[in-house]
Amino acid sequence: MIVSARMRSPMVLGKGVNEGFVASDVTALLKYTNRFLYMEDGEIATLTRDNLHIETLEGKTVKRAFTSVDWGEEDAEKGGFDHFMIKEIFEQPQSLHQTLTGWRSEEERLSRELLSARMMRVVACGTSYHAGLVGRYLFEKFTKLPTQVDMASEYRYADSTLDDSLVLLMTQSGETADTIAAAREARRRGMRTIAMTNVVGSTITRESETSLYLRSGPEIGVAASKTFTSQVMMMYLLSSHMGYKMGRISKGEYDAVQTNLRHVIRAVGGILNDISRIKEQAKWLSEARDAFYIGRYINFPTALEGALKMKEISYIHCEGYPAGELKHGPLALLTEETPIIAIISDDHTYEKMLGNVGECSARSSPVLAIVPEGDREVKRYTDRIITYPRIDPLFSPIPISVILQLLAYYAAKERGCEIDKPRNLAKSVTVE
Ligand code: G6P
Repeated sequence: MIVSARMRSPMVLGKGVNEGFVASDVTALLKYTNRFLYMEDGEIATLTRDNLHIETLEGKTVKRAFTSVDWGEEDAEKGGFDHFMIKEIFEQPQSLHQTLTGWRSEEERLSRELLSARMMRVVACGTSYHAGLVGRYLFEKFTKLPTQVDMASEYRYADSTLDDSLVLLMTQSGETADTIAAAREARRRGMRTIAMTNVVGSTITRESETSLYLRSGPEIGVAASKTFTSQVMMMYLLSSHMGYKMGRISKGEYDAVQTNLRHVIRAVGGILNDISRIKEQAKWLSEARDAFYIGRYINFPTALEGALKMKEISYIHCEGYPAGELKHGPLALLTEETPIIAIISDDHTYEKMLGNVGECSARSSPVLAIVPEGDREVKRYTDRIITYPRIDPLFSPIPISVILQLLAYYAAKERGCEIDKPRNLAKSVTVE
């Protein structure tokens, strides 16, 4: 007999054949079962081989059935890869495809009331926060709503004046304590809430009015990879859907977003087909002590996420910076031992980014430039170049992020780091 109780931290029960399990996350149990039941705060479960009894702290019996998830045992295995993280990086054409095709049923959950919002507020932590930052540009572009992105742990300190904001809570696990606390705070303030998560039935889905599911499949590596690209993809879908329903963009423009997202999936496939150049540059980067990732506009958050990935798994000190801010401080840190990873896209930021590359080279910092295929200009400044397939630059954050994930992975591997379980980090952070 196992007796378990839940209060504030996640707890899930699993049911096998003549056996039962208790864990904090479904991924820990996929090897044994795909039938789960989420406990809620203040519940006590008594689990035996063939029976389950749940009651509340007040002694009231709770009736709730086990439900099946479509995640299987193979998801909990590395399938020939050295680490879960690299397996998950390579799964991205598939996970992105699932996010895109699943959107049809997700959009049905979006009620008309959501469209009355006068402001978007995106709240998240870590990698999810970076996906939120990409979303900011998209919400502003497609819906014209002012959009603010907050770190969940800071949200409660913000005095909010507009109470007709729509608060979008992004958490792949659905269990991050700071994001759950922010959801409660948003509802206390009377805001409409919508969750974006990868885990059906997770806590955030009970704490928000509406939930959107990423359908990326389970992610086991602590550092997020495929769930990030799915989150970013869903930001394109959600913002353009809202923009269309609000009459801010046409049906043609809404459809074009989906066509571009299909090009994105092909571009990601193209990158994964030949990673030799990325591996070579990762080997070089693995020797650095510090590095800067720079980008502008929609690729500024891509730079933040690239730097975070490298920090998390290789322990190299990295900072993501808006390229235009370099001159306001960080230039003082540049030496020939400080690599710069410059993200370049063929949009209105192009000339300015070239200027930044020149600025760094002039201070003797080696620059690794991530550029669209066929670029002729950047090689005037650096011969360290990784290219990505040419797509509409607004959509470039997804393929570029895949390159940055691979750079981090192979640099960490070169340094012999424990990639799937970086020191001091956890996949779901269930304390505030
Ligand atoms: C932890 C993980 C990060 C993740 C963050 C937010 O810190 O190590 O990789 O980005 O939590 O997780 P969530 O599940 O809320 O997206």
